[in-house]
Amino acid sequence: MNRITLDVNRSKGTINKNIYGHFSEHLGRCIYQGLYVGEESNIPNVKGMRTDVVEALKKIKAPLLRWPGGCFADEYHWQDGIGPKESRKRMVNTNWGGVVEDNSFGTHEFMELCQQIGCEPYINANVGSGTVREMAEWVEYLNSEGDSSVVQQRWKNGRKEPFNVKYWGVGNESWGCGGNMRPEYYADEFRRYQTYCRNYGKNKLYRIACGPTDRDYNWMEVLMQRAAPYMDAITLHYYTLCGDWQKKGSATEFDTADYYKVLSRAADMDTFVTNHDKIMDKYDPDKRIGLIVDEWGTWYDVEPGTNPGFLYQQNTMRDAMVAAITLNIFNRHCDRVVMANLAQTVNVLQAVILTEGDQMVLTPTYYVFDLYKAHQDAKEVDCFVICNETGDETHKMGQLTASASEKEGKVTLTVANLSADEKAETAVAIRDKEIAGVSARILNGEMHQYNDFGKTPVEVQPFTDYEVLANGEIKLNLPPCSVAEVTVCLK
Ligand code: AHR
Repeated sequence: MNRITLDVNRSKGTINKNIYGHFSEHLGRCIYQGLYVGEESNIPNVKGMRTDVVEALKKIKAPLLRWPGGCFADEYHWQDGIGPKESRKRMVNTNWGGVVEDNSFGTHEFMELCQQIGCEPYINANVGSGTVREMAEWVEYLNSEGDSSVVQQRWKNGRKEPFNVKYWGVGNESWGCGGNMRPEYYADEFRRYQTYCRNYGKNKLYRIACGPTDRDYNWMEVLMQRAAPYMDAITLHYYTLCGDWQKKGSATEFDTADYYKVLSRAADMDTFVTNHDKIMDKYDPDKRIGLIVDEWGTWYDVEPGTNPGFLYQQNTMRDAMVAAITLNIFNRHCDRVVMANLAQTVNVLQAVILTEGDQMVLTPTYYVFDLYKAHQDAKEVDCFVICNETGDETHKMGQLTASASEKEGKVTLTVANLSADEKAETAVAIRDKEIAGVSARILNGEMHQYNDFGKTPVEVQPFTDYEVLANGEIKLNLPPCSVAEVTVCLK
């Protein structure tokens, strides 16, 4: 039998709720049609924001939203997205599908969206094609109370109070679409740009440097060596592909080998985070600087017949397993990982929500975020797993992935059985504690299952296939390809 031992007396610290953050870019149908339909739309909305989508994000307690990109961020000029909509500048979104961007969703709309969701805004500003002045004035526009021309513009646009935006990204993928810079050059640029991003009033900016992609350890080393004192956090991007960047594989048509390949690639996140953390430790042993994985998730070939630049993909139980693996990794590294943003919220890549006209579908990945929401701002709890192996000849892995936390006398364990076809009998023990009560919820299905418009077979269900044994342990009978949340009340 598999065994999970929880020890509430051993913890790496608090699981920052921002680990459960999301990412929304001006890409395909993420912003337009996905989050924003405009006030004139027949689709129910409040000030242009889709009511169904906002409500769904509130249910999973989405704590934070990153915007406006992605690659789009380094071509975005914030002044184009303020003022009367009819006079806003039009541009062609050269990164994503060559479509016309009319800038009808800009700074004020993004702040309104965050307010409706009840989440923190994280703005990723332009270094690649912007200027220091442009960035500095965006911060001033958002956060200053001073009677300057920039702030007067905000007043004129209907907002008297400052927005007090805290999370501030200085460039995106500056090693690639954000300017093809060398780490040495970007480190200097970061130091320069962040200098002029001022703190206004009591609002202290949380300055986020552009970090590496997956295994680019040199980028991390150089940034930490040259710019550590100037940053509050540094980013990491990692996408899980089934194939390679030329042929990424289908989201829905795959065999068991592809299933395990994707899961094992998702598990590589642990290696990347561990190795980057070690480099950061050299320069920041007290872990003052956070690691922010502000783009993660699966990336497949687009759904047949859809715009290749829109990155629209379906989302199966395989994606739910990727989410479970990844979020458990982040929870377990909560002493360094302070934020993460799944790419991307609606209709793009590993979306939690898909829309088609006025219809909305919640993906299996959405339900994983629902199952994990109790971890937000809870104390991480040591979670020791001994389990069987699963996988195939090429991709072997532990059958279980798990993490745990404690809040207000309740312990939450999230555990996934990664096997495509074998159940997992699992004994759970909580060291030195007595159990007062247990409840559980589960998401499970065949690995190819997904939710579509008018057909939603995958949803969270109450889970009852467990028993509390005489020795105080809990025996779970986890079905194949499942993610469970087990809540234990302590005496
Ligand atoms: O999420 C899609 C793209 O992936 C982002 O725009 C970019 O930052 C990354 O390469």
